[in-house]
Amino acid sequence: MKKIGVLVSGGGTNLQSLIDAVEQREINGEIAVVISNKKDAFGLERAKKHNIEAVYSNDEEEIIRVLEERNIDLVVLAGFLKILSEKFTNSFENKIINIHPSLIPSFCGVGYYGLRVHEAAIKYGVKVSGATVHFVDENADTGPIIIQKTVEVLPTDTAEDLQNRVLKVEHQILKESVKKICDDKVKVIGRTVFVQD
Ligand code: GRF
Repeated sequence: MKKIGVLVSGGGTNLQSLIDAVEQREINGEIAVVISNKKDAFGLERAKKHNIEAVYSNDEEEIIRVLEERNIDLVVLAGFLKILSEKFTNSFENKIINIHPSLIPSFCGVGYYGLRVHEAAIKYGVKVSGATVHFVDENADTGPIIIQKTVEVLPTDTAEDLQNRVLKVEHQILKESVKKICDDKVKVIGRTVFVQD
């Protein structure tokens, strides 16, 4: 069974969807630790409530150490608002995934997080947006894409409306990606990710 470490900075609804999927045995893995760089992140409370170890640390070296000590196989960035150093990404090559609330390569990269992503999509006037789960490399939102899913953008949408619609598909595709990785059904060749049925 794969050991999963989840990194969060905020509310942790994506974390919650993973906790639920693991508890319902939809994912063949165990969340061994949740780490946050924000002391008051609600994600830490969600972890504790489910008897999952919750660690606060804003020190990258320490975060790497915590993950290595627990022999983590998969690191999930679920709303972790800090760009990882090359040392971090090299320590866990092709073992870190991130969820981003747009269709990469649109509305992504440095400065595109939270509501800003949805504000930019609405301002541009796109008719579809969505969510992307991808492997993490040393740059922001540039690693190989695992799963994407679209949502419609309505002319009347506020950024909050779009955020809520996208969040629903985030929960689905993050869970699906973690499940497939835990089942060893994800292979990466260059920038192409193969996901088996
Ligand atoms: C999500 O929109 C995710 O895509 C982004 O940060 C947000 C985190 O939401 N990276 P939550 O903390 O999982 O509710």
